[in-house]
Amino acid sequence: MPIAFTEKNRIFHLSTKHTSYLFRVFENDYLFTLYYGKKLRTADMTHHWQVYPSGFSPIDQTFTDHDFSQDLMMLEYPVYGHGDYRAPAVCVRFPNGSRLLDLQYEAYSIQKGKLPLDGLPCTDGAEETLYILLRDRKSGLGVRLSYSVFYEEDVIARSAEIINSTNDTVILTNAMSMSTDLPIGDFDMISLDGTHIRERQIERKPMRNGTQSVESRRGASSHHHNPFAVFAAPHTTEFAGDAYGVMLVYSGNFLLRAEKDAFSSVRVQAGINSFDFTWELAPNESFITPEALLSYSDKGLNRLSQQYHDLIRTHLGHTKTVGKRRPIVINNWEATYFNFDEQKLIDLIGSCKGLGIDVFVLDDGWFGHRDDDRTSLGDWFTDKRKLPNGLYPLIEACQSVGMQFGLWFEPEMISEDSELYHLHPDWVIGEPGRTFCRGRQQLILDLSREDVLSYICGAVRRILRENRISYVKWDMNRHMTDAYSRLLPPQKQPEIYHRYIKNLYRLLDTLTKEFPDVVFEGCSGGGGRFDAGMLYYTPQIWTSDNSDAIARLRIQYGTSLAYPPVCMTAHVSASPNHQLGRTTPFQTRGLVAMSASFGYELNPLNLTDDERAMIAEQTAQYKKIAPLVVSGDFYRLISPFEDDDCAWIFVSKDRSEAFAIYARQLLRPASNGRRIRFAGLDPEADYYIEELQRTFGGDELMYAGLSVPVLFDFHAVSYTMHRVN
Ligand code: DGJ
Repeated sequence: MPIAFTEKNRIFHLSTKHTSYLFRVFENDYLFTLYYGKKLRTADMTHHWQVYPSGFSPIDQTFTDHDFSQDLMMLEYPVYGHGDYRAPAVCVRFPNGSRLLDLQYEAYSIQKGKLPLDGLPCTDGAEETLYILLRDRKSGLGVRLSYSVFYEEDVIARSAEIINSTNDTVILTNAMSMSTDLPIGDFDMISLDGTHIRERQIERKPMRNGTQSVESRRGASSHHHNPFAVFAAPHTTEFAGDAYGVMLVYSGNFLLRAEKDAFSSVRVQAGINSFDFTWELAPNESFITPEALLSYSDKGLNRLSQQYHDLIRTHLGHTKTVGKRRPIVINNWEATYFNFDEQKLIDLIGSCKGLGIDVFVLDDGWFGHRDDDRTSLGDWFTDKRKLPNGLYPLIEACQSVGMQFGLWFEPEMISEDSELYHLHPDWVIGEPGRTFCRGRQQLILDLSREDVLSYICGAVRRILRENRISYVKWDMNRHMTDAYSRLLPPQKQPEIYHRYIKNLYRLLDTLTKEFPDVVFEGCSGGGGRFDAGMLYYTPQIWTSDNSDAIARLRIQYGTSLAYPPVCMTAHVSASPNHQLGRTTPFQTRGLVAMSASFGYELNPLNLTDDERAMIAEQTAQYKKIAPLVVSGDFYRLISPFEDDDCAWIFVSKDRSEAFAIYARQLLRPASNGRRIRFAGLDPEADYYIEELQRTFGGDELMYAGLSVPVLFDFHAVSYTMHRVN
């Protein structure tokens, strides 16, 4: 059974296939963490509470026969004010000004499966869920913790519900989704950090005493930090060693922090950022936190990533895409930017004939009178100057060459030069009487308002109903400033960030359910909102506005630490590259992009015949290897952050097929050829490698490795493997 409770010691034991998570209701009904790590058969962990008294750790008077301090214990959901000086998981302000809480265990229940989370995106299909009810006995305030066990994927999903069962309105000032104390604090913290066009670069640093965190205060999860981190033993590699992962299913302001205390235990917490956040809770109201996904691997980082990949691919969001190849897209952004008209697009679409592309996506610039980024956001009707006959001729042109049609929106934004702004200047986020910041020349609609939500929903719905559209790219090109809503009362102003995100989720939920056959692609200036919250609704996200294949090696490699490659959109773009000016071979661009959800971002009319022929070859190749990208195991082999080159491999679950790429960043002079030791293959089987037209043993490919050529700068090769016995 995934969840067991031992009455005698009041120990809860959550088991997945390879991991155990244990906590205990201790004396005086406090909830203590006992263990998280490699699977235990059974455990009598009653000896694990022993701690030696320490000066300046306050003694809890309720324990009469021995000294006891919360400051020294591993706490399952710590509070403020009762002796523990480390970061609390929940903080409340009562009407009398008190901020003190003391949560004690009251009851538990175990249910089959898993319930939805009050309009927040979350995983489904867990085997069992454990609910623990804690109560602050003085005020009556309750906290319900939930733990859902994904047995096969080795993931535990956690969230908390703060229940105001007092007679007064209280103010919630902090509500973490999870808190866990790990006893051995000798960890490296690994996070995915960066900025626009340099997203999710792997940062690995030994933890020091004190708090280290990643967070966002930008209203979106951001390019700068990602709501995901790994705590790995110092010698953990891609293939060996302990690694704990924490992922938050949330797209707004988040905080993921780890605090190493004087005794080297580490408290890990993840949740909504308490910076500029409060939430008013009237009597009988409750607040449900976003979901946090915990996973542990004793087989290194690749295994940990694969656990998250499997979970996201099969238990997060609309299941229509599970196991299916995503469409090959051609997007006109880098081909035309805003500079197009009907004929130019029809010519571009016509030139895709026979290239094997599934969908043409019309990007920014088709609505209002948008010739640049200063105008028209909010006016979601076609620009008659550029498209006098609407979208219809483009859709027809697509169909005549066997493609479907997709469309770009940026629904959360508004330009001051728009009809919408003239009608509803009060719909923007910002305090009247102050000048506000623009980002990319635009303002943000106050999506915490119901009228704004229903306008956006209606505008997008109208276009989708009136046109045959099979793909939507949902963009968001600035971060929030001036966080003030004209409708919220003063005491609710700090709710604006979370209300915005909750309504964004409602909006996406409504539209994705109403148009179940449309593929929604997320985007925020590339990968500015690449998180599990968005992946629930948009099963793939434009990974970065940086389409340079060599920069993409690091971006895609870093992103794969948390998210499956099939969730990353990657396109072959023109060379020299528009963001970096780098010239790269067509083959490299193809191989990097096809290691994800594949497409093009260029004008085929500007290509040579050879390049056009290569597109047809690449799309055919992608269609063959797509099942591996969609549902295979992904292994990182050579890190572009540590080496001059980079390699990865996809292996089918039954180990019969594999696809690897090996790519060069910069060639160090006098480099020798190297051997790549592949992973995930069957050592007992033989594999035919198409590109080499030779057969090798799986054991040889994994243990001795394959000698690969010395590649010049920016070149890449692939190895497509088929088991032959
Ligand atoms: C940012 C996106 O990431 C690009 O791909 C493109 O859609 C532009 N916005 C359009 O404004």
